[in-house]
Amino acid sequence: MRDKYKYIGPVYDFLSNLYSGKNIHRCKTAMLDVETVKPGDRILFAGVGHGRDAIRAAELGADVTVVDLSETMLRKFGDAQKAEAPHLTIRRIHNDIMNVDDFGHYDMVVANFFLNVFDEDMMVKVLEHLIRLGTPEARIVVGDFCYPTGNIVARMFKKLYWYMAVFIFWLLANNAFHKIYNYPEHMKRLGLDVTEKKHFKLLNMNCYWSILGQKRA
Ligand SMILES: C[S@@+](CC[C@H](N)C(=O)[O-])C[C@H]1O[C@@H](n2cnc3c(N)ncnc32)[C@H](O)[C@@H]1O
Repeated sequence: MRDKYKYIGPVYDFLSNLYSGKNIHRCKTAMLDVETVKPGDRILFAGVGHGRDAIRAAELGADVTVVDLSETMLRKFGDAQKAEAPHLTIRRIHNDIMNVDDFGHYDMVVANFFLNVFDEDMMVKVLEHLIRLGTPEARIVVGDFCYPTGNIVARMFKKLYWYMAVFIFWLLANNAFHKIYNYPEHMKRLGLDVTEKKHFKLLNMNCYWSILGQKRA
């Protein structure tokens, strides 16, 4: 299995903090608090990366499973867990998310800055798969770059900001090069109720959002 994050993986969280002034981290943990995560909730993190969001969920008492295709990213996750929460048990799966088949199992599925690695057709297939992994009333969380809205200057800034990031990841990790996706529209089209959106700003512009979707039983 080729590790596309072999080179950028070790510095991924450092770069993301540099790029966003910690707003990416805030976005990734926005839907993980005592209101949304109950002890014993089964939560899956798809494409977990360094996974401080997954550690937060486990600290709140959730039964956490993380999946990543990259050995480097999973190693970084292991390092973070060892340093920050060695007492917690978190199940790690080193595989393609499309091979994870415990359907109907998870109370919450989290896709933070994960769906943007795929081209749009594949992204829809992956999102559909994540929804199937959830229980009939599961919540699906998507954190990512915000769909560009506002006046022409704001939209241009947001697009430029996105294209700089996607270019770096296209170059170094061979991710798909594409426009910013409108995740809430895709989530609704796939049958989810979008119950909450939280925005995160950079230079006073909404650049990231965390979207909470709910499956209809
Ligand atoms: C852009 S990073 C985001 C990491 C993390 N969720 C975060 O927010 O920092 C995308 C992650 O998805 C993983 N990934 C990409 N394709 C995958 C797949 N098909 N199955 C599982 N993980 C995958 C990559 O290895 C990488 O760790």
